[in-house]
Amino acid sequence: SLPHAVKIVEVGPRDGLQNEKEFVPTEIKIDLVNRLSAAGFRNIEAASFVSPKWVPQMADGAQVMAGIERRPGTIYSVLTPNMKGFDGALAAQADEIVIFGAASEAFSQKNINCTIAESIARFEPVARAAKESGLRVRGSISCALGCPYQGEVPVPAVVDVVQRMAALGCDEIDIADTIGVGTPGRTREVFAAVTKVFPRERLSGHFHDTYGQALANIYAALLEGIEIYHASVAGLGGCPYAKGATGNVATEDVLYLMNGLGIETGIDLDAVVSIGDFISKAVGRANVSRAGRALLAK
Ligand code: HMG
Ligand code: MG
Repeated sequence: SLPHAVKIVEVGPRDGLQNEKEFVPTEIKIDLVNRLSAAGFRNIEAASFVSPKWVPQMADGAQVMAGIERRPGTIYSVLTPNMKGFDGALAAQADEIVIFGAASEAFSQKNINCTIAESIARFEPVARAAKESGLRVRGSISCALGCPYQGEVPVPAVVDVVQRMAALGCDEIDIADTIGVGTPGRTREVFAAVTKVFPRERLSGHFHDTYGQALANIYAALLEGIEIYHASVAGLGGCPYAKGATGNVATEDVLYLMNGLGIETGIDLDAVVSIGDFISKAVGRANVSRAGRALLAK
């Protein structure tokens, strides 16, 4: 049976905006996070503390975190690839840090400039320091359903990284289809395998929509009992290290799906539709949420 309620992690301010070519002014990033907080999201991925040479768009993470209004109970997450990133996250009073690895060696090299084993060794002190400071730790696994450089990613490779992330003490682990190549059969297979080694209720689905499969993959993951999904308002995004990949599945589309299935999210779809319109206009890009566009046209 399907879950009665799910948690939607809004990743637009980070995964969505990180790929914008033109620098998005800090005030717009802050405004976006504040509007999302007001719409009821319990978890917002707000910024990255990564090398500004690698991802210039995220260089203002500290200012974004300092400028937002914290809604009590909402978790504001930031990406931290190493101790330098962790120090920034701690100073910025993030609630949750995200260590991000990959199930593919090739992608690990391109994205974080190290092997999978090196990344785990680098994450170890980050995860430990986060726990000592009382922060939540989330582990994200890119290319869990396919890799732009090596193609096929075997299911056991995903299970292996889940186990390593679990050993680091991750509170939550994201199974990410970075380039949106996954299909529902494979999605079920991967979730059926990873739920054997990590608690189902602490696993999430992070789907990009490049091949139009994201909603179908979410449904497949729902059938495996997965209760946490990442989405990006207006379908913002892409990946700087995955050419041609589109943004995350649009939050509006996910909410429409959940509403139709009678699955609680605690988030107001109409409010998110307005936010999608706001941010699409603010960054000058087409709103790619199908539900968002349909509801705006009404
Ligand atoms: P590196 O060049 O190997 O690192 O990069 P380094 O330690 O040699 O440092 C090089 C320079 O970067 C130094 O500066 C450091 O100080 C600086 P310099 O001395 O040359 O002036 N530096 C930093 N600056 C600020 N904050 C930091 C930091 N670390 C080093 N934290 C590194 C290795 C991991 C740092 C780099 O590759 C990097 O920042 N990568 C980030 C890539 C990224 O953000 N990708 C997008 C997010 S992942 C994603 O989108 C996937 C996800 O959505 C799931 C999915 O869909 O798959 C999560
Ligand atoms: Mg992503």
